[in-house]
Amino acid sequence: MEGRGDAEEATRLLRNSRAARRLHALVYLTSTVLFVSGFSLLREGRPGLEAIFGGHVAAGRSHRWIGMGLIALGLLVLLLRMRAAGRFVRESVQFRREDLRWFVSYPAFVLRPSRYAPARHRGHFDPGQRLVNCVIVVAFVVLSFTGTLMSFPERFRPAVFAWSLRLHELATWMLVVAVLGHVLVASGILRAYRGVWRAMHGSGRVDALLARRLWPQWAEEAGMRAGEGGQSSSERRTRSKAS
Ligand code: HEM
Ligand code: HEM
Repeated sequence: MEGRGDAEEATRLLRNSRAARRLHALVYLTSTVLFVSGFSLLREGRPGLEAIFGGHVAAGRSHRWIGMGLIALGLLVLLLRMRAAGRFVRESVQFRREDLRWFVSYPAFVLRPSRYAPARHRGHFDPGQRLVNCVIVVAFVVLSFTGTLMSFPERFRPAVFAWSLRLHELATWMLVVAVLGHVLVASGILRAYRGVWRAMHGSGRVDALLARRLWPQWAEEAGMRAGEGGQSSSERRTRSKAS
């Protein structure tokens, strides 16, 4: 039994470290509470939803405090994991001419994954993920900036509050669309992505065959690293923290 488990582990590649998986979970749980509390306040407010937070005033207060918490978390990550954050941004904004072929091949892959594979790309993330990452980061920056302005209405002219609210709302819908697309793909509901949810949950490992289709260059390098030392550097870090 144990042998079979080990063999299965060996065909999986570590995609995201434990720290990244924890951060990801924290961000999406916090964002969900922010979305529900923000939605309860939207326009004239929704008393039924606001009641969950203890009424209109309490919902606004919870929203602001949790929002501040998310901003603090973002700043902490920037401060303590500056290189990892820089790498994430660099890998998300780097688009190459050949990525166009990936976009062209994508619909056939999603509809008939057993027949078609996506065109090869050279990124850590595929071009679609990179696009979604950019939208998510811009939306969070706009939400944080306008949310902070709106938290101190007495310091600014009413027009600043009105514009901040408009942008805050716009960024909310940008984030909702991007996250819905992301979850549709990353949850593995689509046949082409079955099992990919494991990249951010549980062990953080994905099947090597799936990884080769989705992120060919990364999978080759990760496979080589795993072959060389038995483990990748992020895996070594994860294991040493666990022991
Ligand atoms: C995932 C992140 C966030 C989402 C989805 C979100 C969503 C919303 C929504 C839908 C509204 C109602 C807008 C309206 O009434 O038209 C709102 C209001 C507001 N948000 Fe956010 N928000 C987020 C982050 C933040 C952050 C980081 C802050 C900063 C502390 C913040 C502070 C505020 C403030 C001050 C209001 C005004 C409403 C009030 O306090 O009564 N939000 N938000
Ligand atoms: C507010 C909600 C969420 C936000 C803002 C968010 C954001 C992100 C970001 C920025 C990444 C990095 C690369 C990428 O775009 O794939 C990522 C990765 C990932 N997310 Fe989410 N996520 C959210 C919710 C979820 C949920 C609910 C799932 C559940 C299935 C999920 C599954 C994944 C997986 C499997 C990856 C790894 C992809 C890879 O390694 O390339 N995410 N997420």
